Amino acid sequence: METIAFHSYRGGVGKTLLSVNTAVRLASLNKKVCLMDFDLRAPSLQSYLPPNSLVEGSGKKSLTEFLVGNVEPKDVIAPTNTANFHCVFSDVEILQKQAKIRTKLTQHGEGRILAKLFEFIRYCNSQDYDFLIVDCMPGITFRSLDALVVSDKIMIVTRPVKSEINGLSLLMSECYSKLEGANFFAIMNQIEHQQDIAFEPNSQDVRVAEENIQAIWDSLENNSSSIKINPIYSFRRIPFVTERIYVLEEKEHPFSKDIEKFCDNLLELKNE
Ligand SMILES: Nc1ncnc2c1ncn2[C@@H]1O[C@H](COP(=O)(O)OP(=O)(O)OP(=O)(O)O)[C@@H](O)[C@H]1O
Ligand SMILES: [Mg+2]
Repeated sequence: METIAFHSYRGGVGKTLLSVNTAVRLASLNKKVCLMDFDLRAPSLQSYLPPNSLVEGSGKKSLTEFLVGNVEPKDVIAPTNTANFHCVFSDVEILQKQAKIRTKLTQHGEGRILAKLFEFIRYCNSQDYDFLIVDCMPGITFRSLDALVVSDKIMIVTRPVKSEINGLSLLMSECYSKLEGANFFAIMNQIEHQQDIAFEPNSQDVRVAEENIQAIWDSLENNSSSIKINPIYSFRRIPFVTERIYVLEEKEHPFSKDIEKFCDNLLELKNE
């Protein structure tokens, strides 16, 4: 099994949209996939799933309970009515209401949460999952570090705006440089395509966007911590975006085609 984390410095760059669509696309290619909503403070996976898509009675417990208690991995995995696509949800209400759990989940914790993640991965391995996709919380926190430590591949998600650049260099020096053995990939999300917009863009804006994209690539490739960043993937900006699974509901959408290409690549890399 391969564990793939989607991580970013800032929130709202597209980790959840990309991880849900990637997970469902891989499942449709007959891969057994578990998608973990590891954004413990602000989970959002649930709102991407169509109504009634969970198999009744499954996934009765949350990842939040698993990480701090005696819940079995099998009790937190929720199969969906999309074949091979299983989900694990976080429960933010428990976190908000129970200070003890909040403390356990936000503090260092001497590796206890990391051990639980490894336990979960062992279980997924025993159940013949092909992929565990981890939708991380943004930024540098104890928990996002835990998620990155257990991952084989780390997708660094960015947007083509100038304010990403400083965040990326901080991630490199304070976080990624400390991880051994992970493979890093860069993702540029929300790239504008002229044919997708109904008006003529201001040429100055187009130039600035292009410069930002170039500056972000340069900062990733020439980073001082000498982390090797693997191929860079681009995903287009979806006009009038909604929280949904495009690869399921809008297979012909250009964004779904971007996801298809990305997943083909992931499979090629896995077989290498
Ligand atoms: N390629 C895209 N085109 C258009 N909108 C997008 C794209 N990717 C993400 N979005 C939108 O941006 C918003 C944030 O996306 P998403 O929730 O996936 O980000 P995130 O990185 O998971 O955020 P957080 O860190 O808060 O969990 C959502 O409204 C989503 O629909
Ligand atoms: Mg998210």
